[in-house]
Amino acid sequence: MLKKVSVLTGAGVSAESGVPTFRDPGGIWEKFRPEQLANFEAFMKDPDFVWSWYQHRREIMREVKPNNGHFALAEMEKIFPSFSLITQNIDNLHYRAGSRNITELHGNIERNYCIKCRTFFHEIDIQEKKVLKCTNCGGLIRPDVVWFGEMLPVKELKYAENAAADSDVFFTIGTSAEVYPAALLPIIAKRAGAYSVEININPTVISFDLDETLTGKSAEILPELVQKIKEIRNN
Ligand code: OAD
Repeated sequence: MLKKVSVLTGAGVSAESGVPTFRDPGGIWEKFRPEQLANFEAFMKDPDFVWSWYQHRREIMREVKPNNGHFALAEMEKIFPSFSLITQNIDNLHYRAGSRNITELHGNIERNYCIKCRTFFHEIDIQEKKVLKCTNCGGLIRPDVVWFGEMLPVKELKYAENAAADSDVFFTIGTSAEVYPAALLPIIAKRAGAYSVEININPTVISFDLDETLTGKSAEILPELVQKIKEIRNN
């Protein structure tokens, strides 16, 4: 029986909730330059501008709801004895759908911290368009998301690499698989012997390296998959 299942998700999983993806036509990086908005130098140059962009994204992410793909992954977690959900998404939708063993590789937009004393701030006034200052030391508060040029959180990356290397089945869902080191995880899993499955509306750079690609929307394929798994287990 399959015991260890791991999943890597990307922006495509939240597309049907209404969260824009990055590299699809009309995606975030078509409209905005990452170097203007998603790196530390940009933040230090114009903190209010970068902050207001993240406030805008927070607004979008709070308004949307998890979709059937998120709910199906939360269901999967209950089925398998060992289930790791590794996400590049910062939108909190996996948690809101009920998933609990979540590893966030790129941070979480609802968390913020002071760049001077590292105090964390979870409750942020969404209306505040100017960058907030730390109540302890007066330092600038930034979102706890990984910006370009920054390292991924060490503990989370280590966990993800171990989970990938230790999986019986590894799913890669709704990601372009172009951003490293997250994009290495499906390859680590495949090399270690996992059965590797991709779910995406389009082929990606890794499609041909994997065992199987299911083409379509994750919000449609995942619920069907969970249903099938349940049927097999009941027989
Ligand atoms: P991308 O926008 O690069 O890729 C989204 C992927 O989802 C594409 O392969 C689409 O074909 C696929 N997709 C779109 N809608 C889908 C749907 N309904 N069902 C299934 N697949 C769908 O987003 P990511 O690969 O997640 O990093 O981007 C990775 C990282 O790049 C992000 O976490 C972000 C960005 O720069 C940081 O900000 C650090």
